[in-house]
Amino acid sequence: MPTVVRLGLLGLGTVGSGLVEIVSKSGSVIESKSGVRLEIVKALVKTKDKPRPLESDKLTFDPDEVFYHPEIDIVVEVMGGIEPAKGYILKALESGKGVVTANKAVLAQYGTEIFEQAKRHGKQLGFEASVCGGIPLIRALSSGMIANDIDDLVGILNGTSNFILTRMYKEKLSYDEALAMAQDRGFAEADPTFDVEGIDAAHKLIVLTELTFQTKATLEDLEREGITKIDPIDIHVADEFGFVIKPLAVAKRTGASLNLRVHPTLVPFEHPLGAVSDEFNAVMVRGDATGEMIFHGKGAGSLPTASAVLSDIIEIARNPTGGIIWNPAASQRFEKSEGRTRYYLRFPIEDRPGVIGRIATSLGDHGISITHALAKLDSSAGNVMIVTHEASESEVNAAMVDIAATVVLRGEPLSLRILG
Ligand code: HSE
Repeated sequence: MPTVVRLGLLGLGTVGSGLVEIVSKSGSVIESKSGVRLEIVKALVKTKDKPRPLESDKLTFDPDEVFYHPEIDIVVEVMGGIEPAKGYILKALESGKGVVTANKAVLAQYGTEIFEQAKRHGKQLGFEASVCGGIPLIRALSSGMIANDIDDLVGILNGTSNFILTRMYKEKLSYDEALAMAQDRGFAEADPTFDVEGIDAAHKLIVLTELTFQTKATLEDLEREGITKIDPIDIHVADEFGFVIKPLAVAKRTGASLNLRVHPTLVPFEHPLGAVSDEFNAVMVRGDATGEMIFHGKGAGSLPTASAVLSDIIEIARNPTGGIIWNPAASQRFEKSEGRTRYYLRFPIEDRPGVIGRIATSLGDHGISITHALAKLDSSAGNVMIVTHEASESEVNAAMVDIAATVVLRGEPLSLRILG
């Protein structure tokens, strides 16, 4: 006899609808592989007057019909945002339900409180879908690689910004066109600022840091830059120089401290992360026993994310007293990286005699040596793009300040790291 697991959904948008689709299409295959029969009992929605993949008697406006429904075993939070999602997760655990969530923003800010609530009520909380969509990364880190000490992790954690940069590169779409396409395909957050300003990737990096390094982290512990300062010229010049621009997230342990960063980075063509396109995510982790591992797959979208939600549901159904140990301590120091790296720099300039020489001299004065340089000027203005040998962030920042003081700039200069 199969174990029957009855689900209550909080939200029936992109991910919730994907879950209904997979259960109706593949429910019997899931049952024969796992011994678990899934039934969707209720779904909390904001409106009933649009087409829904569930019968109307299963839709409700009242969250209590989900929390206190006697037949519901697992509550699935796929509504996103902080409130009311956080309060609903706590209430569902309190009312004795297992919970599965895709909500990285809530976990990044309130993970400790939520896991304490789960422990207090002896319930499981699954969050595979919160990071990297369909890639079973949480399970790999918390189970498959549990025997490893991990010192660094680098990856592409936001599908929307990777999609935008890919389409600007491959199809020469404008930023706005590429963002609209990402929204249309259900990749972007309700507020896409979270995607393009690196906040979503930062939330995911915090979840991974708390899990992998068992260290409590906040947005303030991170260096964060989004993709909004990237101009099409950066993408195409990076290509001429042998690089592709990717939205990277990095967590690195150096001695007693951790460095957490989210920013667009030039990645060499031959690097595995350089080939990760569109809404795909990838994470490279180095375990002391396994060595380097790479996880790659769709990081956003209805079905990949719903697949991860379902994997948690089956896991809870099969192992109701198990669960991931979430116990981050506030012991680790966070430090800005002073490590040396190569840089890509762009200066939007007025074309005046000697301007390129002055930029090169300022860089030289700060000990920064140039490997590639290119000027693209139309009539009286344009951009100077430079790739440097390795330099420290403070050297680059000091040179940028000097250059801004001695050269007539038409806008903000840009500096991007190059992945070594
Ligand atoms: N907006 C997110 C992304 C969805 O683009 O990666 C998946 O978390």
